[in-house]
Amino acid sequence: MKLNLLLLAATLMVACASTEEPKKGPGENPENQLGTLREAYKNDFYIGAALNSRQISESNTEQAALIASQFNSVTAENVMKSSQIHPSEDVFNFDIPDKLAALAAKHDMAFHGHTLVWHSQLSSFINDITDSTKMANALKAHIEAVAGRYSGKVYSWDVVNEAVEGDGSLRKSVFLNTMGEDYLSFAFKTAADVDPNAFLYYNDYSMTGAQKRAGVIKMVKKIQASGAKIDGIGMQGHWGLEYPSIQEIETSIEQYAALGLKVAITELDIDVLPNPDGVSGADISQSAELKAEYNPYVDGLPDDIAEKQAKRYADLFALFLKHKDKIDRVTFWGVNDGESWKNNFPVNGRTNYPLLFDRDNKKKKAFEAIMALKN
Ligand code: G3I
Repeated sequence: MKLNLLLLAATLMVACASTEEPKKGPGENPENQLGTLREAYKNDFYIGAALNSRQISESNTEQAALIASQFNSVTAENVMKSSQIHPSEDVFNFDIPDKLAALAAKHDMAFHGHTLVWHSQLSSFINDITDSTKMANALKAHIEAVAGRYSGKVYSWDVVNEAVEGDGSLRKSVFLNTMGEDYLSFAFKTAADVDPNAFLYYNDYSMTGAQKRAGVIKMVKKIQASGAKIDGIGMQGHWGLEYPSIQEIETSIEQYAALGLKVAITELDIDVLPNPDGVSGADISQSAELKAEYNPYVDGLPDDIAEKQAKRYADLFALFLKHKDKIDRVTFWGVNDGESWKNNFPVNGRTNYPLLFDRDNKKKKAFEAIMALKN
């Protein structure tokens, strides 16, 4: 009798198992056959993307699904910069940033704030200040209002952005000109007071150049010596197919981490176009006239260049994995090629291909190459 019951139970279990729908993991959706970045790298570091206003509104449902499946960190490409979120003393535009905070919570993403103190896209009422006390009060009010609103919602902030020049000296911004270098530790102290749990970064481009790196390290040591909390260095990755070398990037990751800080690769995109001499990094005051020689791929990305870019991305991610103990996030500066700022920098109106998804949001060889490292 006991045996019969056992046989019946076993038969029922087999029958149930064979009729049950298989569980759909990300790999079983044809769209996700390669798996997703956020899943593949979940034990290594966050994989982020900067979103524009349209992407934040999730109006294109197909693209919204792609963003939600591939990324586990988000940054506002523009809408949290001072001139946009706080255009005049008593005016704040929180609507779209609030939507981004909600999107991040809905999709279980680390929300990265960009940026609190930056000389560019700065509200004119702050840019016009000439007095040290007024500047300190304005910075404090701005940080309290903006970081205060997203306290408990953001995971991290770019507290200060792009304060160092290529030669390692401090940028002669309105902040330096009014407050002297104390503005740096003041900004970090204020941000930590307002949101003690947020991870606080210094973020900049061309961070692999030896002179600039030395200047950043000197500046960070002073911020640390002042007792201010600084947790991370953001290395913007506005890089090319050949520059900077993997060796320069590795040395930089190691030297920044040696300050006792985490490193994030922020603003990653790989430019595939020939650029005018002397242009690199992301200084938006650089611009050049559109000439055909700077815009060779208007009809599509040639296979050999797509492969070169894929190899470049694979080399970079192999390096990031090697140093995953030091790296906490890798963020792409955009989602697809068509919407990248690189179509307009440093030459306006080009057809560039810097990201992992093409103009139809389809995966490029570069995506496959990054995923192949984990398969
Ligand atoms: O919003 C206006 C729109 O109303 C107007 O019609 C249009 C006409 O030009 O301009 C729109 O503003 C543009 C804005 O992007 C939003 O699209 C600005 O002209 C344009 O200059 C601005 O560029 C942004 C740039 O920062 C400005 O500093 C890029 O999208 C953004 O990707 C870029 O991001 C920076 C990071 O914040 C810091 N690191 C460097 C990086 C690249 O420059």
